[in-house]
Amino acid sequence: MATVSIPSKGIVLDQEREVTSALAAIGIDYECWSLDRVGVDADADAVLTAYAAEIDAMKAQGGYTTADVIDVNPETPGLDAMLAKFSTEHTHDEDEVRFIIAGRGIFHIHPLGGDVTAIEVEAGDMIRVPRGTRHWFDLCSDRRIRAIRWFQDKSGWTPHYTHSGIDSNFEPLCLGPAYLGPRVQTSL
Ligand SMILES: [Fe+2]
Repeated sequence: MATVSIPSKGIVLDQEREVTSALAAIGIDYECWSLDRVGVDADADAVLTAYAAEIDAMKAQGGYTTADVIDVNPETPGLDAMLAKFSTEHTHDEDEVRFIIAGRGIFHIHPLGGDVTAIEVEAGDMIRVPRGTRHWFDLCSDRRIRAIRWFQDKSGWTPHYTHSGIDSNFEPLCLGPAYLGPRVQTSL
């Protein structure tokens, strides 16, 4: 179950109906899916087979042509460089669609004219960030995530950086009780 935080308003949401509603209001699709189809450590082909119905439904709904399984952990070669590509505000030319099988991460969404909204995702969460949405992403402290991804065209999933700097105002810490809110700016 995802946790949603709007730091500027002091709001934290962790009930499915509230989370879904708050995310829909900023254009983010969110659903809780069953995790009992396959073991979290099953190989990628087994995962794709187990979720074939959902994968095909999403393809039909969003025009996605391919799906794969991404699996990163602290031992993944080049992990820091990989994470750095996505931890500052950017957009994509296609949707960013993920179903989390294991691990945790945090999306920050920067809606047009709206407050930055943090979404901590965990196993069982399906999230769709529409193309053009300003956002950034960090892993949680265990630096582990496994997810199904959908693509319209993988070449469209390159980041276009906004260079706004707004991401530096938010701690890349996961939400929950330890979340510290906006980072305190210093002159150092
Ligand atoms: Fe992204």
